[in-house]
Amino acid sequence: MSLKTPFILPCGLELPNRIAKAAMTEGLAEPGGVAGEHIERAYRTWTEGGVGLMLTGNIMVDARFRERPANVVVDGTQDEQAREGLRRFAAASKSGGALGIAQISHAGRQSPKAVAAEPVGPSAVAMKMPGGLFGKPRALDENEILDVVRRFSISAGELCNCGFDGIQVHAAHGYLVSEFLNPLANKRADRWGGSLENRARLLIEIVRAVREAIGPGKALTVKLNSSDFQKGGFSFDDCLRVVGMLEAEGIDLLEISGGNYEQPRMLGFDGLEPVFEKKVRESTRAREAYFMGYAEEVIKSARTPLMVTGGFRTRSAMEAAVDDGVAVIGIGRPLCLDPRAAGKLLSGELDELPAPERHFRLGPGWLGPHSSNDLVKAANGFAAMSFFYRNIIRLGDGKRTRRRMNLWRALIAHQLRERADAKRSVAAD
Ligand SMILES: Cc1cc2nc3c(=O)[nH]c(=O)nc-3n(C[C@H](O)[C@H](O)[C@H](O)COP(=O)(O)O)c2cc1C
Repeated sequence: MSLKTPFILPCGLELPNRIAKAAMTEGLAEPGGVAGEHIERAYRTWTEGGVGLMLTGNIMVDARFRERPANVVVDGTQDEQAREGLRRFAAASKSGGALGIAQISHAGRQSPKAVAAEPVGPSAVAMKMPGGLFGKPRALDENEILDVVRRFSISAGELCNCGFDGIQVHAAHGYLVSEFLNPLANKRADRWGGSLENRARLLIEIVRAVREAIGPGKALTVKLNSSDFQKGGFSFDDCLRVVGMLEAEGIDLLEISGGNYEQPRMLGFDGLEPVFEKKVRESTRAREAYFMGYAEEVIKSARTPLMVTGGFRTRSAMEAAVDDGVAVIGIGRPLCLDPRAAGKLLSGELDELPAPERHFRLGPGWLGPHSSNDLVKAANGFAAMSFFYRNIIRLGDGKRTRRRMNLWRALIAHQLRERADAKRSVAAD
């Protein structure tokens, strides 16, 4: 089926085509988590690309637990000037004809030390990550969990009032809602932990509260892991059961992804290979979209429209997925390289989305004689992400994106900017 075929969501809103810009954290907020000219500029550029659905990056429901220092924050304390920024952000997202959907999130234990010295989670279980970037979380109490639900609903209502067409609840990638779903992070013995019904309670309560806040005419979507890809973590069986629970709530679109910071499968099977190596393994190339196998199983049992994100690069793979019953194809990294690439694919100018030019990797030599494999892997992961972060910053500055960057320099520039943003956000709080 052509990717240009429109799609009507259960709430009645229509997507003009089947391509979505997937959520990508921007780090472009002004001090205080305010949406300003930088974010507006980036989204005006992205929207010219002609995607049918424009998802924002993580918008945080609690300033204390952001995922990055310069996230947009919408927690109900916004003044009229901040609201005007959100209106302009929403208008920019939609100006090319896309539906604009705001992704809302709480970073939980994945809130870095630069933001939260002591993050929060379902239980006091620290992440297993080298580098010491994340503090050990403390467990939320019952009242704090109810406050999280309230914050999601306030944020959702505010964003839709400011012009967004709907909300995506971020329940994937190891942030707070995903932590509650994950038995390795959630050791609670109360009604929020233990059985899958209990672990999914936070997500379901949030979904209900958000629907109440935005009403039936706006799109309510959820991003969910197919699996955490960790022994004892949120499994694909768990996922299928949660999909059933979400279907009963009447959501409009379910996005399937996977992984978390400890196991970053959202970016591919071993993190970087599909993007950073020209010689991609044949098996990966054959199935470029790495969550499609899971999506096919979900489609068998669910009627909720499905969006699948991760690895889609060619028109033929996207069309095949739509033929298999996927409603919307999510695209992330290629739109950091060419923000208009989706439009070029839709118009026939391109058959394949752009990839970064070959980069050198950071080997053990760069990281000292005693660097472990895990550290080298993590450093390369951070460096690769920095490449995309730097391109998003360039979009916010109105500059052309780059397909080639020195990874080491990108990593340092990114770290320096995050540090400066952290100082600015502390000063603004
Ligand atoms: C720079 C960058 C930022 C991202 N930020 C978010 C985010 O804020 N929320 C989210 O759900 N996923 C985020 N992701 C994951 C993407 O939405 C997507 O799932 C992933 O990049 C795989 O799709 P792709 O292969 O088309 O890039 C991010 C990915 C990148 C590269």
